[in-house]
Amino acid sequence: MKTRICGTGSALPKRVVSNEDLSKIMDTSDEWIKSRTGIAARHLATDETLAGLSAAAALQALEEAGICAKDLDMILAGTISADNILPSLACELQRELGAVHAVAFDINAACAGFLFALQTADAYIRSGQYRNILVVGGEILSKLMDWNDRSTCVLFGDGAGAAVVCPDENCGILSSVQGSDGAKGGVLSCCGRKNNNPYVKNSIKLPFVSMDGQEVYKFAVRTVPKAITDTVEKAGLAISDIDLFLIHQANIRIIESVSKRLKAPMEKFPTNLAFCGNISAGSVPILLDDVNRRGLLHKGDKIVLAGFGAGLTWGASVLVW
Ligand code: UT7
Repeated sequence: MKTRICGTGSALPKRVVSNEDLSKIMDTSDEWIKSRTGIAARHLATDETLAGLSAAAALQALEEAGICAKDLDMILAGTISADNILPSLACELQRELGAVHAVAFDINAACAGFLFALQTADAYIRSGQYRNILVVGGEILSKLMDWNDRSTCVLFGDGAGAAVVCPDENCGILSSVQGSDGAKGGVLSCCGRKNNNPYVKNSIKLPFVSMDGQEVYKFAVRTVPKAITDTVEKAGLAISDIDLFLIHQANIRIIESVSKRLKAPMEKFPTNLAFCGNISAGSVPILLDDVNRRGLLHKGDKIVLAGFGAGLTWGASVLVW
């Protein structure tokens, strides 16, 4: 039994902010951002909520899968920026969708969040415990950015993507690998609220994302090609058998380096980071929905999905569409 993606969806906030727009409010330029990252614009939430964006994405995925919310057994949401600490994004989605029979929880694996959620769904489906699972990856990262730190805030965007997965005899996930390296977590972090109980004194300071960009870059170009090679081998395939590589949209230079290391042409690496920026857990499912709706996925195609990010965490899966 395999786990097949039978529907996808995505939703982006309506406000588009170009590099040019950012250069009017901080010391940056279109030239710097584009040449270092490949990003030209991103969508930033203004009045949207993450639950609202995720529900819009989920409804598209449910429609394509041909099932309704009441058929869902489980909702898994990969996110680090749920609207509230409690309840989880997955539970808020359950309420919005009326998915009354689902068990729902979030997975915090940053930019690998969608991959970890998908791989968790795969384990539940292969065990026979559940059949219809909604997997969501989404972020409103703009609320976690320090808008005085030009080295991070220009990189990220907001949005959500969704996939409905079901059991299938023939098509679906062939193999997966995942990994974590908590010892290196400091290179990409966002502190939590400080304890302010009556027995400690802490200043109330808002926590923001901080990143050592070059360390994250080195981690990504080392880890992602290995994770992809390992999962492709595990599936009994060669890199040349893969039709498309949908990898986390952090930086075009990282994607080019992965393509070079794998000796797979850039035409097999569709991107959307030019207009979306880095949407962390939302990046892979939004790209997946984009290529699906553009008709780039054909029955029998072999596809790699890969994510990497804070934790540090990484994951890759190979599937037959
Ligand atoms: O989901 C995973 C998320 N993270 C990543 O994927 C990050 C991976 N890393 C990267 O993509 C790159 O390291 C960055 C794009 C973040 C930065 O590129 P870099 O080539 O490593 O630049 P840098 O940090 O070494 O900074 C070079 C210069 C600095 O100025 P000085 O010290 O050389 O005078 C920065 O202050 O660029 C400056 N700078 C900027 N200038 C204009 C940093 N941010 C900006 C900016 N606009 N937004």
